[in-house]
Amino acid sequence: MEVIPAARTRNIRYAIRDLVVLAEQLTGDVLWFNIGDPGVYDFPVPAHLVEAVHQAMLAGKNGYAPSLGVKEARDAVRADALRRGFKAVRNVVMSNGASEAIEFALTALVNPGENVLVPCPGYPLYAAVLEKLGCETAPYFLDERNGWQPDLADMERRVNPKTRAVVLINPNNPTGSVCSKKTLKAALDIARRHHLVVLADEIYDRMLYSGEKHVPLASLAEDVPIASFCGLSKNYLAPGWRVGWLILSGAGTAAYDDAVCKLARARLSANYPMQFAVKPALEGPQGHIAETARKLEERARYLERRCKEIPGLSLTPPKAAFYAFPSVQVADDEAFVKELLMKEKALVVHGSGFGQKPGSQHVRIVYLAPIPQLEQLFERMERLLGSTARK
Ligand SMILES: Cc1ncc(COP(=O)(O)O)c(C=O)c1O
Repeated sequence: MEVIPAARTRNIRYAIRDLVVLAEQLTGDVLWFNIGDPGVYDFPVPAHLVEAVHQAMLAGKNGYAPSLGVKEARDAVRADALRRGFKAVRNVVMSNGASEAIEFALTALVNPGENVLVPCPGYPLYAAVLEKLGCETAPYFLDERNGWQPDLADMERRVNPKTRAVVLINPNNPTGSVCSKKTLKAALDIARRHHLVVLADEIYDRMLYSGEKHVPLASLAEDVPIASFCGLSKNYLAPGWRVGWLILSGAGTAAYDDAVCKLARARLSANYPMQFAVKPALEGPQGHIAETARKLEERARYLERRCKEIPGLSLTPPKAAFYAFPSVQVADDEAFVKELLMKEKALVVHGSGFGQKPGSQHVRIVYLAPIPQLEQLFERMERLLGSTARK
């Protein structure tokens, strides 16, 4: 008997990893520019964090953690949030990566048939979780001509009586854009007017290039319910440790908080020894942050230059994180990405995997790799674009 999987899995898509299946079938070396894992390149986890986890393991912290998280870690997250101006903080819950925090926040809030406003382009986990919950994704667009800032008119147009929340990813994956304070305030006004919860994904909030400033959403309002997500995966370069957190703040969050805590208890706990790196991460030496940003900015500027040189590519320069989302002059970005993989053995992700305006074509490049590898990627893209243009 063939096992029939649940219908809820039918439409779950996660382009970033779905393509890997194809890449693994290829022989010969593939150049990978699809997954945002800094440790694969020249971004090691800061030694004091490794040491903290090591010591925790030696001290026998290898069982289950308290369901809501290790007290020392939760206190450190709360203190850090208050230092950065978060208002009306209600609770901090530690999670297995920010991914689990996102899953808690959505599961505790949205009923089947209801919807959540999600940025397009944006990180595909939100749509995947909503699909699993039998809920709908209501996409709103980011405006490429306005530095990929959220299109606020579009955001508000998409609200309907079944809308429960709006997601803001700032800095954004896949565009590397940073929201202005003005945009954030206007988004909060929309949430206020329509009684929405704001889900603030700030997992890249310390990976900023020169002159950029990140404003935490929760520092701008105390009368709007806000769930903010962050963690050790990006700023602290340790995605494999699966340590993230959810900070609940603002008004009207008592029952919502209870529901999130129930979900956290039902899954027992997040990783235990790794949570002992949270306090040293937030309160210890921060030298790696400037060093990481310096290297990434240099790579971003290289991409910017190459996208200007190569006909068929055009890039709104990223200002944070390690993702670039150039538009590509091809008929179908997914077909282009597959051809790049099959013919040139380089893997990027098609823009349609992140949601994008219909009719536009993009690719997402993860530029954690050092410049010599990026040079190879651009040579290969240039060659393929040249041959596509001649067809
Ligand atoms: C915007 C965004 N949010 C959340 C996550 C997931 O983070 P974590 O690895 O902590 O689960 C990612 C991972 O790439 C991301 O890009």
